[in-house]
Amino acid sequence: MKKVSVIFGTRPEAIKLCPLVLALQEDPQFEAHVCATGQHREMLDQVLQVFGVTPDVDLALMQDNQTLASLTSRAITAIDGYIVDYEPDLVLVQGDTTTVFTAALAAFYHRIPVGHVEAGLRTWNKFSPYPEEINRVLASHIADYHFAPTCWAQQNLLKEGVQAERIYVTGNTVIDALYIAVDKVRKLRPQITELSAGLLNSSIDQRLVLITGHRRESFGHGFECICRAIATLAEKFADTEFVYPVHLNPNVREPVFRLLGHRKNIRLIEPLDYLSFVALMDRSTLVLTDSGGVQEEAPSLGKPVLVMRDTTERPEAVEAGTVKLVGTDVRQIIDTVSQLLTDTDAYGRMAQAVNPYGDGKATGRILAACRRFLNGRGGNT
Ligand code: UD1
Ligand code: UDP
Repeated sequence: MKKVSVIFGTRPEAIKLCPLVLALQEDPQFEAHVCATGQHREMLDQVLQVFGVTPDVDLALMQDNQTLASLTSRAITAIDGYIVDYEPDLVLVQGDTTTVFTAALAAFYHRIPVGHVEAGLRTWNKFSPYPEEINRVLASHIADYHFAPTCWAQQNLLKEGVQAERIYVTGNTVIDALYIAVDKVRKLRPQITELSAGLLNSSIDQRLVLITGHRRESFGHGFECICRAIATLAEKFADTEFVYPVHLNPNVREPVFRLLGHRKNIRLIEPLDYLSFVALMDRSTLVLTDSGGVQEEAPSLGKPVLVMRDTTERPEAVEAGTVKLVGTDVRQIIDTVSQLLTDTDAYGRMAQAVNPYGDGKATGRILAACRRFLNGRGGNT
């Protein structure tokens, strides 16, 4: 049996890797081992609970308001110790966080092959998103096997000189996770204690703008602008509910609660467990976000997404017409949301269900690829 170590640390990595963990655990060819770095704590534990995944090892790295350097140095040392103890045949990581970069580097130091899930996303701007663009570029340089979610991501890797036979176009596992979640929440709507039961009811007419935001490059001025725009919109559209599950990063919470707290139609709530968040996304009129994962999920649900960033590494849904970049400019956010809330044609053009990121079968393709290369049958042909 081949020992496959799945290493993750934050909410989005767990969402995108839990379906793969569950599949690996069912496959008799693999001994799956889960290492949570604990880069996130509450937000990671929420995801693990939903998928019923219990890490074999938890490195419990999170500290309050951690800096990039302190997290990176603690992570590389702790993951190194884990790899020495467990001696995996393969390490799998996902995405572009500090956990991904440090886990890939630690595995490389022990000459253990690395498979990178969601490989090949790029903005070619090293400060946007920051530090994720550089984390994923470095992960690509270290990785031996690259699971590209789309053909566009595959092309990016090819242009950087990655050998074609080491790239597998698989779709994004976020869609696998989303399908599992949608199936559950459409059968049994979760209750969100901080919101009234009526608000979650899909048959009521109440408009709902769902908001998330956490990007480091927007700390300070960017978040002040985002909040000013939301405050103005909430006044202008008094009949619309603005629901914002606020990320636990203190650099996000401080401006958000200071500028948006105590307003009649703005609901600032705690981060939601994955099923509740999917239910809310499914119920929303439109989504205002800077999240990577939400940009991938909401188009599948036919929800217009306005991305509060200047760049995106996920151009596919922009090309399909359901996602628009609005940056952190106050005027642009206000004008674009206002147009969608008042112009039914403009809304209709964006609110189509498109699915450029996968068909819900990425996990199976990644597993099949792992079987091939761990059994010495080489590349993707
Ligand atoms: C991290 C990732 C980012 C990813 C995001 C997903 C890095 C550098 N950043 O950003 O790429 O998009 O996660 O959400 O890898 N905190 C808690 N509890 C939690 C999680 C966070 O209290 O469950 C607070 C802590 O004070 C922590 C801080 O948030 O120090 C920052 O966490 P960190 O993982 O460094 O950065 P994120 O902004 O969450
Ligand atoms: N999400 C969640 N609860 C929330 C907000 C988001 O479960 O309150 C999920 C969302 O569905 C998506 C993922 O978290 O799958 C995105 O995480 P985040 O925005 O923190 O990180 P990113 O994707 O930008 O790296």
